[in-house]
Amino acid sequence: MSGFPSILESINDLTKAHIDSLLERAKALKNKEPSRLPLTRKISVATSFLENSTRTKHSFAMAIKNLEGNYIDFNAETSSLKKGESLAQTLLTLNYQGIDICIIRTSESHILSQFKNHPPIKIINGGDGTNQHPTQALLDLFTLNEYFESIGQKPEGKTITIVGDCRHSRVTHSLIDLLPMYGYKVNIAGPEQFLPETELENIGIFENLEQAINESDALYLLRIQTERHASDNDTSSYYHELWGMSLEKLKKQNKLLPLFHPGPANIGVEVSQTLVDSNLWMAHHQVRNSVYMRMAIIEAMINNEATNIGAIYNDLSGEVSDQNS
Ligand code: CP
Repeated sequence: MSGFPSILESINDLTKAHIDSLLERAKALKNKEPSRLPLTRKISVATSFLENSTRTKHSFAMAIKNLEGNYIDFNAETSSLKKGESLAQTLLTLNYQGIDICIIRTSESHILSQFKNHPPIKIINGGDGTNQHPTQALLDLFTLNEYFESIGQKPEGKTITIVGDCRHSRVTHSLIDLLPMYGYKVNIAGPEQFLPETELENIGIFENLEQAINESDALYLLRIQTERHASDNDTSSYYHELWGMSLEKLKKQNKLLPLFHPGPANIGVEVSQTLVDSNLWMAHHQVRNSVYMRMAIIEAMINNEATNIGAIYNDLSGEVSDQNS
C-alpha cells in the first residue's frame, strides 16, 4: 500500500485510509477472495520477541506462511546482541541478509521511534512495554465490527469498556487511539491504581463495575500486568470479587455482554471459567481474525514502495579532497 509506514510503532502512524484498507483486505482474506496473493515475489519476515508471547508471535508466523513467505524466528538471547551489538546494527544485518520485515516485541516502551527517520529494516511493533500494541488493536477493531454486524447492528455509537489494569496496558493505549476513529465510545474501568495517571479526552472513567456494565455494549477485559508494576501490587485477595467478571455480575445487571480479551487470560482473576466456556467469550474470534489482519498488515508494508530502507546516510567520499594528488 503506497504511503504505508515502514515502521509501524503506533496506531498514530496510520491514516484512516490505511486502516480502512487493512479492514477490507483482512475481510477479503478471511472470505478467501481474491484467491491470488498480491505479493509479486517471495518475502522473508523475521520475529524477534524479547518478551514471551503465544498469540502475537504464532499468528504472525501463520500469516507469513499463509503468504508463502520465509519465516525466520530470530532468537535475541543467542544472538550477537548479547555481545554488545546495537539493535540498529542487528536489524541492518537482518536487512542485508534479505529479510524484508522484522516484528519486534520488547519490554522497552518507545524503543522503535529511533528508527522512523532512517529505517534499518521494515519493522512492525509486536508490543513495546506499556506503550502500544497496534496489531492487537487492529484485529480487535476488525472483530468488534464483525460482532456488531453479525447481530445486525452498526458499530458506530457502541460503547466498549476496558476493564482492569489499563494503566500498564499497551493494548489499552492502542485501542484508545483507534476505536474512536470508527465511532466507538471508549470507557475505562478498574481500581484506582490501574486507571490512567492523566485525564484522557473523551474517555469515561468508572470506579464502579456495575455502572460500567450498565453503560456498555461490550466489555474488553485485561490481565493484571504485574511484570510492569513498579512496586508489589498484590491484588489476588480481592480482584476477582470486586473486578473479575462472572455470569452472576452480568445477570445482576441484566446484561449478557460479549467479552473481549487480548489474552493471555487469568481465569478466576479477571474472568470466571463459566464465562470463558460460554458463547459470550469473543477471544477465540480475536485469535482467528489475528492471522488475517496480520497478513493484511504484512502485505501493506511490503508493498509501500519505500526506498530508504537500510540506506547509508553519511557519504564521506568528499571529506578528503586531495588524497590522490
Ligand atoms: N495479545 C497478546 O499480545 O498475546 P501474547 O502475549 O500471547 O502474544
